[in-house]
Amino acid sequence: MLIRNKPIINSSEITSESVYLNRRNLLHAAGLSGISLLPNIALSEDIPSRYQRLENISKSSFSTDAKKTSFVDVTTYNNFYEFGTGKGDPASNSGKFKPQPWAVTIDGEAEVTGTFTYEDILKPHTLEERIYRMRCVEAWSMVVPWVGISLGDLLKRFQPTSKAKYVTFETVERPSEMPGQKRPLLDWPYREALRIDEAMHPLTILAVGVYGVELPNQNGAPLRLIVPWKYGFKGSKSIVRISFTEKKPYTSWNDLAPGEYGFYANVNPEVDHPRWSQARERPIGGGFFSNKVPTLMFNGYADQVANLYTGMDLTRYY
Ligand code: MTE
Repeated sequence: MLIRNKPIINSSEITSESVYLNRRNLLHAAGLSGISLLPNIALSEDIPSRYQRLENISKSSFSTDAKKTSFVDVTTYNNFYEFGTGKGDPASNSGKFKPQPWAVTIDGEAEVTGTFTYEDILKPHTLEERIYRMRCVEAWSMVVPWVGISLGDLLKRFQPTSKAKYVTFETVERPSEMPGQKRPLLDWPYREALRIDEAMHPLTILAVGVYGVELPNQNGAPLRLIVPWKYGFKGSKSIVRISFTEKKPYTSWNDLAPGEYGFYANVNPEVDHPRWSQARERPIGGGFFSNKVPTLMFNGYADQVANLYTGMDLTRYY
């Protein structure tokens, strides 16, 4: 991605284990509706027991059977500029972040608007595990077992009007808990948007967990967007506002560098980033010098989503 300023990370920004564990205790006290709070039991040798387990998760037919990226890689190799620009920064610097209690404001072109708690958002929905390929614009990739709900099912509850052509997802702005927001790396808050038909597509989810446990802060706790056929930057993390609009909205990366990051950001091996090729990708977990593999059109989801773009020149609408 494009970096405006070189980051300076103070040692005071690095979280101690005790701060982290206190946050977990708060979560226990919060009592999440629709999610059973089990005692802190080890899930497997790969997942530390301090992570809150999610219950009643159904499997999705949309999951890939590709080999999953390890829990350690999924949670320590991240992009979340609110916590710094290095891949390890989000895991190191997000311990002070409080993802509960949480509320999301719904506004714009919809019959039902207002502010809803995390519990309100999740209550009527079934949690599903969706194992998706994830392709970052930086030409690396992962296979991640997200846990989430269908975004389309959620959005329908707000009854978008016929004027709702786009949906924007805005990240929380809390510089006191997010050290990266103290620097002008991006024009905070982080915003990404979809066309309404993309948002309603059955592949699009609002994720609340990964590997069967609640989202770690570095992965976008407590709610983040996942659109598997688009570059990862479309997936806004820690969402506090969802807005329905008639006009194409401002989005963070497109606004910062329109020649490098398009509004659509569909994974497309035939459209290079101006500074590097998008034809191949490096799967995370195989080591830095591991072989790159070919990138697939729409990240392998072409059969499901290519029809959304019929008639569009994808070299222009990249
Ligand atoms: N959301 C916010 N708010 N801030 C960010 O910097 N980075 C994006 C996306 N969502 C980002 C964000 C990018 S570039 C990627 S590749 C994915 O998050 C990475 O998600 P992960 O760290 O869970 O793998």
